[in-house]
Amino acid sequence: MLPNTDVSAALAKTAALYEHVKSVIPDVEWPVHAPYVAAINDLKKQRNAVILAHNYQTPEIFHCVADITGDSLALARRAVETDAEVIVLAGVHFMAETAKLLNPDKVVLIPDERAGCSLAESITAADIRALREKYPGTPVVTYVNTSAEVKAESDICCTSGNAVEVVESLGVDQVIFLPDEYLANYVAQQTDVRIIDWKGHCEVHERFTAAELEQYRASFDELTIIAHPECPPDVLDAADFVGSTAQMQAYVQTERPKRVLMVTECSMSDNVAADISDVEFIRPCNLCPHMKRITLANIHESLETLQPRVEIDPMVADKARLAVERMLAIGG
Ligand code: 13P
Ligand code: SF4
Repeated sequence: MLPNTDVSAALAKTAALYEHVKSVIPDVEWPVHAPYVAAINDLKKQRNAVILAHNYQTPEIFHCVADITGDSLALARRAVETDAEVIVLAGVHFMAETAKLLNPDKVVLIPDERAGCSLAESITAADIRALREKYPGTPVVTYVNTSAEVKAESDICCTSGNAVEVVESLGVDQVIFLPDEYLANYVAQQTDVRIIDWKGHCEVHERFTAAELEQYRASFDELTIIAHPECPPDVLDAADFVGSTAQMQAYVQTERPKRVLMVTECSMSDNVAADISDVEFIRPCNLCPHMKRITLANIHESLETLQPRVEIDPMVADKARLAVERMLAIGG
């Protein structure tokens, strides 16, 4: 709790925000969040700051302090459009790096620098140089879940929302696609381009199993299962729909299934459920420990101190930015 806080005043100030999230945040918890929510929303104005939040952030961040929310692609796109002087990235480190690449003159803050990603950890710039030697002339398509150093060695980036489109935009017979093996496999099923993959995995999505999904199907009638393409192939085969987090959200909002199971990080269902009352959410819960390092308390501290800042070596940034900008130029 913030020091010297008037909790009653904070509760009054945040009453409308709580109304929106009360189906997913118990009322006993709100007095802990409310002072931070009120203070962060005030500080944002003082600092001319915006908060970008990924779909895996908890509802008190996602619905109550974020200005821009979405999947990795939407956050990259919207990061370019902001006039704010300060960007706080409520997500993981590679997302903050992407925002900094696209806004080199702005202050970009990541409230906890340890918010990493198992996919980003799975590959280095030296690995890409070795692959280029092994497959000369083959373009490198790199998932945004990578470091700036890795992006700098790549021809173009992609996200789970535009991967097939990016691969096909290159007009070649084969590409090196890094680092997510399961996303690469999913893309390979939808294109004639030969995909050379890497054995990186998301530690959250690789834990789901097809057997687990079968059990849910047996336990719940009329269950719609939608999955993220970072899941293993047999999990994707067992799903009714596969897409990025934004595509999963759009699917639920437009299709309005009676009962849905989102095979992805836990907070995703909470955030979609807060907006929708006529869909029942079945919630298997795999937490991303990196996403969960971001809290209201460290967002508040980050806005107060304007630290920790994301800085990228300019030589690396110039090359990495090109790979991200080539992706954004494609659309999708
Ligand atoms: P998207 O939100 O782009 O689908 O990515 C999911 C993810 O795991 C991000 O870390
Ligand atoms: Fe990385 Fe997976 Fe966490 Fe996304 S959910 S940040 S891909 S570890």
